[in-house]
Amino acid sequence: MAKKIGVLTGGGDSSAINAALRAIYIKASSLGYKIIGIEDGWKGLVEGNTRELTRGSVSGIISEGGTILGSSRTNPFNIEGAVEKVKENIKKLDLYAIITIGGDDTNGVITKLAGEIQGVGIPQTIDNDIAHSDFAIGYDTALQLVTDCIDNLHTTTFSHHRVMVIEVMGRDAGILALNAGIAGGADVILIPEVPYSYEDILQVIDERKKQGKNFSIVVAAEGAKPAGGQDQVIKSEETDSFGHVRLGGIGEVIAKEIEKRGKYETRSTNLGHLQRGGTATAYDRIIAVRLGIKAVEMIQEGKFGMMAVIEGGRVSSVSLKKAINEDKPIDMELYEISKLLH
Ligand code: F6P
Repeated sequence: MAKKIGVLTGGGDSSAINAALRAIYIKASSLGYKIIGIEDGWKGLVEGNTRELTRGSVSGIISEGGTILGSSRTNPFNIEGAVEKVKENIKKLDLYAIITIGGDDTNGVITKLAGEIQGVGIPQTIDNDIAHSDFAIGYDTALQLVTDCIDNLHTTTFSHHRVMVIEVMGRDAGILALNAGIAGGADVILIPEVPYSYEDILQVIDERKKQGKNFSIVVAAEGAKPAGGQDQVIKSEETDSFGHVRLGGIGEVIAKEIEKRGKYETRSTNLGHLQRGGTATAYDRIIAVRLGIKAVEMIQEGKFGMMAVIEGGRVSSVSLKKAINEDKPIDMELYEISKLLH
């Protein structure tokens, strides 16, 4: 009887997940496994919603954004009796192992279940904040998307001689904002890792004005914090199943303050969920394929409790505990470079 591998996609989606699912199916079926798609992340294992993937069901999906399996932010550890349900369903479905594709939260669940469930993780998040992996699936596409948006906002900001504050996702990580800001030629980049001050922001805008540049682009990561210990700007106090509040609104706050303090006509644009949509870049698809194949190889080799990663440019594996519990530091050298570019 063929062994079965379950695969789930949880947390915030992105654009190259389907490329990973297709690669997982092709590699695993070539080794004689059956692949069971679990619907809507961990919710599917709590409720027992699954469907067997076939060559047909993963055909033509490499260029489709989102995830054919659906996603949710369900945390079985936060729902009474759900962890037991997950274990029961894994038994009932006779799953030999599972592959979890997602960020810290989704992969954190399988990390906690190590020793009881044979699992392998794959990093997937536009935040690209998973330790020991240079890339998470979805990041490269989001980076290009945000860069394109900055380009588009540049022209109207220039024409109207305004300041534009562009709010970028990333939760507590500034990797997306920093890199897209540099690629898009932003004049000021605010990231959660470095508290900001209005004096510093206005100094750059004033300096540009003196040089005859009467427009400026500020890229603000949604999780950036002002110096002086103030909190992040949140959209809703309500927390999700993993305890996260919804960030959002920093762009508007900063825009108002720039207008008030600097007397510059200022607008803000929150790129929101646009950042997670669309067709994946070629590079993102290749990353997804490589991580998908690696995850199946890890199962074949019995390397459970591990995550497939790209570290130092090479596909490898790292313990889930390390990947999930350690922080991924921001590249401060790159941040310092970004401060010169205005
Ligand atoms: O973690 C990915 C992410 O896009 C974050 O950057 C953002 O803060 C969050 O998800 C938004 O979550 P939701 O889609 O649940 O609003």
